[in-house]
Amino acid sequence: MSRSYVIDAIPGDGIGVDVTDVAMQCVDAVAGIYGFGVQWRVRDWNSDLYRKAGRMMPVDGIDQLSSGDGIYLGAVGTPDVPDDVTLWGLLIPIRREFDQYINLRPMRLLPGVVGAMPGIGDLDIVVVRENVEGEYSQIGGRFGAGTDGEFAVQESVFTRRGIARAARYAATAATERGGRLVSATKSNGIIHTMPFWDEVVAETVKEFPGVVVEKVLIDALAARLVMKPTSIRTIVASNLFGDILSDLVAGVAGSIGIAPSANLNPERRHPSMFEPVHGSAPDIAGKGIANPVGALWAAAMMLDHLGEAEAARSLTSAFEGTLADGTATPDLKGTATTAEFAAAVLSRLS
Ligand code: NAI
Ligand code: MG
Repeated sequence: MSRSYVIDAIPGDGIGVDVTDVAMQCVDAVAGIYGFGVQWRVRDWNSDLYRKAGRMMPVDGIDQLSSGDGIYLGAVGTPDVPDDVTLWGLLIPIRREFDQYINLRPMRLLPGVVGAMPGIGDLDIVVVRENVEGEYSQIGGRFGAGTDGEFAVQESVFTRRGIARAARYAATAATERGGRLVSATKSNGIIHTMPFWDEVVAETVKEFPGVVVEKVLIDALAARLVMKPTSIRTIVASNLFGDILSDLVAGVAGSIGIAPSANLNPERRHPSMFEPVHGSAPDIAGKGIANPVGALWAAAMMLDHLGEAEAARSLTSAFEGTLADGTATPDLKGTATTAEFAAAVLSRLS
């Protein structure tokens, strides 16, 4: 076998396990067709490990991942472990240690899918989310526990370098997507970090003569994404705003279960990580009805990143064709189980 990739798979918790299983099977199938191999290193880093060992991943977990070509994650989180433990014990350290500073979250209206409102057939949005700083910071604390005066402080961290590199990536994307870049902001209410964000985004985008930035306040942007989602193609947003907007856009396009996410280290000094946008969905975990489309789309983004563009396109047309045929899971008003959907995709691949 000529080309071969080592991928660390972290199925995680809840439906993360189901959709990762589907993604691995489908990637193996396209790999067979296009003549490359994928060596999966499946990791049991999840809430069960936390309950047994008090950690979401081994002490040297990051070191173990660093020798691979990429990371594929299902989702982590479970009702009896605090969400900040599951997220900060695994996902966020991976994003930061591997400097995966771009979180790329594309969304289109997929064939056969009825969106949340009519007239959005052209929906095609890419959210470029800053992924390692901003509102998600460990700086701050909780004081006066249990007293009347108890309070919490959480600092946001925005750096010129961090904003500029996100804006540069988004402007590059916008160049190929009509030239308009919407920058999500809140510089009327958040008076230190957000005016700084606006300033650095504007300065950075000046390097791109073909790109015009439109800064839009996050609250108005939320309404516009619901009412006129096809008026927007490319968005650059901070860590928190980008997180929220990508779920919103997925909801508009029919389901959060179809949304993919690539955590990229664009310089390729470290492995990048691919995952569906959704979480572990405890409300449907174990029922076998999770929509694997977000996971498959994320797997296609991974193949593309690895340089297997043809395999990525083939996997994408397989899940699109399955949807176009009317096979869909209940979140998209269909009746297929995860396994039935997976079987339909696999049969298109063979
Ligand atoms: P969620 O995305 O897990 O679920 C939100 C809603 O969407 C639920 O009703 C769920 O059933 C539905 N849904 C999500 N994915 C679906 C799919 N593939 N098919 C069909 N329906 C789907 O978000 P929630 O409920 O806020 O979080 C649940 C847990 O997941 C929490 O512990 C949270 O911390 C964690 N989480 C983990 C993430 C990650 O590992 N990247 C991301 C988001 C949440
Ligand atoms: Mg999210």
